[in-house]
Amino acid sequence: MSERLVRFGIAMEASLLREFDDVVEARGGTRSEAFRDLARGAVIRSKIRRGAEAVATLTLVYDHHVRDLTERLTQLQHDLGSRVRSTLHIHLDHESCLEVIVMQGRADQLQAIADRIVALKGVKHGGIELYAGLDENQHHGHGPEAAVEHHHAAPAASVSAANTRRKPKKAPAETSGRKRKPAKIS
Ligand code: NI
Repeated sequence: MSERLVRFGIAMEASLLREFDDVVEARGGTRSEAFRDLARGAVIRSKIRRGAEAVATLTLVYDHHVRDLTERLTQLQHDLGSRVRSTLHIHLDHESCLEVIVMQGRADQLQAIADRIVALKGVKHGGIELYAGLDENQHHGHGPEAAVEHHHAAPAASVSAANTRRKPKKAPAETSGRKRKPAKIS
């Protein structure tokens, strides 16, 4: 379901446009796609600042030998309650753990809790990636039962998803569909 595209003119310095075209060529695609991505990025950053509903991944590398750290990380995640949608934990080596925490909730609150977690002693690396472009008109709630309508191309991975409800089976033609992307035009 792609929206109609509107054409409009943009004025900019020729030198800036040349440099931008170099960037476009390096990443592939067209000028229009590149501008749309910039616009989407600006819109999403603005929504994040205003505390819009968002999903986020927080990636941590930490030393599990540091006293109380594992317990504090677990406690912070329990405090988040249903805002933690899934976690992935890998024992990287003798001392380091990699943890990816998938969260959903108000963007500003997710950012604040991520800042607290990353600041904990023993966390060697931490970074959050936020996405606030969720379609607010889609038929899903924002409470613990929230689940954006989507299909998996393959069986779900073995990570634990806290709030996933089993849905009735659908015909193969429907379940094989991938999530739609906006149609690309140049
Ligand atoms: Ni570990």
